[in-house]
Amino acid sequence: MENWIEKIESARTLDELESIRIALFGKKGALSKAFADMKNVPPEEKPKVAKELNLLKQSLTRAFEEKRGELEARALEERLREEALDVSLYTPRPESGALHPVMATMDRIIEYFASLNFSVESGPLVEDEFHNFEALNLPDYHPARDMQDTFYFKDGKLLRTHTSPVQIRTMMAQKPPIRMISPGAVFRRDFDLTHTPQFHQVEGLMVDEEGKVSFANLKWILEDFLHTMFGDVDVRFRPSFFPFTEPSAEVDISCIFCKGKGCRVCSHTGWLEVLGCGMVDPNVFKAVGYENVSGYAFGLGVERFAMLLHRIPDLRSLFEGDLRLLEQFQ
Ligand code: DAH
Repeated sequence: MENWIEKIESARTLDELESIRIALFGKKGALSKAFADMKNVPPEEKPKVAKELNLLKQSLTRAFEEKRGELEARALEERLREEALDVSLYTPRPESGALHPVMATMDRIIEYFASLNFSVESGPLVEDEFHNFEALNLPDYHPARDMQDTFYFKDGKLLRTHTSPVQIRTMMAQKPPIRMISPGAVFRRDFDLTHTPQFHQVEGLMVDEEGKVSFANLKWILEDFLHTMFGDVDVRFRPSFFPFTEPSAEVDISCIFCKGKGCRVCSHTGWLEVLGCGMVDPNVFKAVGYENVSGYAFGLGVERFAMLLHRIPDLRSLFEGDLRLLEQFQ
């Protein structure tokens, strides 16, 4: 039985050791056999042989356990070496996307008005003359209706030139009181430093019973809105003209670049124009069949807001898809 120790010690793998275990300690193994053979030993020698056999079993077990520990430790080490991760290896960072600055700005504007319970309405990009012009008190002879300014289709339809037609659609589909905004894309035949053929507007409209909606309400909400967007700026209302409002005003904020002192961006006026607004013209109410109501409306260009908020100098860079610009908004 002596050479079993050697066999155990020379095992190179756990599998090899396992076959040895079966051959030695198994039910039909060498040890069981040696114990079984005890029956042939003369009675007077039995105690001595049994004692030797037991000592042998003990030392074989010890040798086996030792070997097993050693082989298991080696196998573990090997596995760790194989599965090791090189954490110092360079891998490129995953790119994360972000909202385009125009959409992010639009979201901020929507959030403000939605928090005041304005509904968010939408309308078709391909409009007809009635909703885009006529009902908004823009008569046939108005220059905005010229082919120079508007994309027309052959059938007389057109790409909406502003989000104001959604006012008309909402008033015709609902009854007052109405409190809505309408964000979306608009289209004009224009392309230069400060104009692109497609841009975005947010339209606003509030209508209620006659006398319930005043210019003071309009002034309050726009001032609060502009302070929310631009922080601590001065706001001024300048008399102006829009066919769909009477009276009408354009709204300026004090220049956020020079704090009103005068610079290139504000053409040395100290003011930046950011909004058009007014009280809804009676002709507009007539076109949608409303009587005994009053209301205010406003409209703004989202790109202009985005450019001012992020100090982007060239409008066209918002549409070029240049990742170097977009990455700055992650
Ligand atoms: N529709 C105008 C434009 O495209 C913006 C506007 C001005 C909308 C005054 C209004 C408003 O509702 O009252 O320039």
